[in-house]
Amino acid sequence: MTRDVPPFGSSRNVANTVRPLSREMAQREMQSVPGEALISLRDVHLGFGDREVLQGISLDVAHGETKVLLGETGMGKTLIMKLAAGLIQPDSGHVLVMGHDVSDMPEKELLNFRRSVGFVFQEGALFDSMTVSENVSFRLREEAVDETEIEERVREALRFVEMEEALEKYPADLSGGMRRRVSIARALVDRPPVVLYDSPTAGLDPVTSQTIITLILRGRDLQDVTALLATHRVQDAFGLANFRFDKGSGRVVPLAGNGKSGLAQSLAEREKAAEGGKERNEAQPTNVLVIRDGKIYFEAPADELLSTKDEYLKKFLASAE
Ligand SMILES: Nc1ncnc2c1ncn2[C@@H]1O[C@H](COP(=O)(O)OP(=O)(O)OP(=O)(O)O)[C@@H](O)[C@H]1O
Ligand SMILES: [Mg+2]
Repeated sequence: MTRDVPPFGSSRNVANTVRPLSREMAQREMQSVPGEALISLRDVHLGFGDREVLQGISLDVAHGETKVLLGETGMGKTLIMKLAAGLIQPDSGHVLVMGHDVSDMPEKELLNFRRSVGFVFQEGALFDSMTVSENVSFRLREEAVDETEIEERVREALRFVEMEEALEKYPADLSGGMRRRVSIARALVDRPPVVLYDSPTAGLDPVTSQTIITLILRGRDLQDVTALLATHRVQDAFGLANFRFDKGSGRVVPLAGNGKSGLAQSLAEREKAAEGGKERNEAQPTNVLVIRDGKIYFEAPADELLSTKDEYLKKFLASAE
């Protein structure tokens, strides 16, 4: 299958060749380009007034990968997530998602594109006047999906985040962690190939944060979701790096299978796990990007972050202890 968008750097007029993208089309296209990055930013610049917040950001998220974008508050994580979702456009550079150049897409096509990407907003962004069920089904209703199917999918999505019993509740009746679960169900309900999690653990206690990370790794390992996850918590990166969802037992297990978790797991143990079998996405490591002062400051598998000598990065590790 040929792709609509020329390789980056081509002078072809992308805007004229991109066609509207339904979720089903997005999934078909995604299957046609295995091994390629599903999300790419190329030298992206974005500023406000005389302040350039993003000063040449380039990143790739491979098919099936959940990449972690780690950064302190105000570094531009949310801006990057919104760029990838086509909610905002860069001052310069390119944003390529599922083979489409989002940074050069006419507004009409962007409307379609946005529907093909799951977005978990930093604040959850649930509609307070709607029940959980109405919140989760909102996008399916917009797409005029059949009512019986809507009910099935909403239940399935809420079961996935273990919130089925909250169907008829309102967001105000839920805890912060529960609201975040509902936001994840809403993002996953129409099975998007790409999901953007914007600080999904912000404001949650450590235990609740880990349950959210567990849901995200289930999405990665069970639903083959490709994701970018913004966070200021280094623990989120290690939660994703050290656990996998075991399809056989239907449980989340430590990647090395030795009962250790979190920061305790050493590089040697990870390597042993990788040798032992290509289980989670062919033992694809969890890669971490650190954004600092408008640039990608560090990019490597989570393990390498553990052994860093860099003072700035050590600060992140210390914040997790
Ligand atoms: N519409 C806007 N107008 C002006 N400045 C903006 C706008 N949106 C974002 N900014 C600025 O860009 C910077 C990056 O914001 P962003 O929300 O992406 O940070 P963040 O890394 O997500 O932070 P946090 O961890 O607190 O969520 C901030 O300094 C913010 O004030
Ligand atoms: Mg943010």
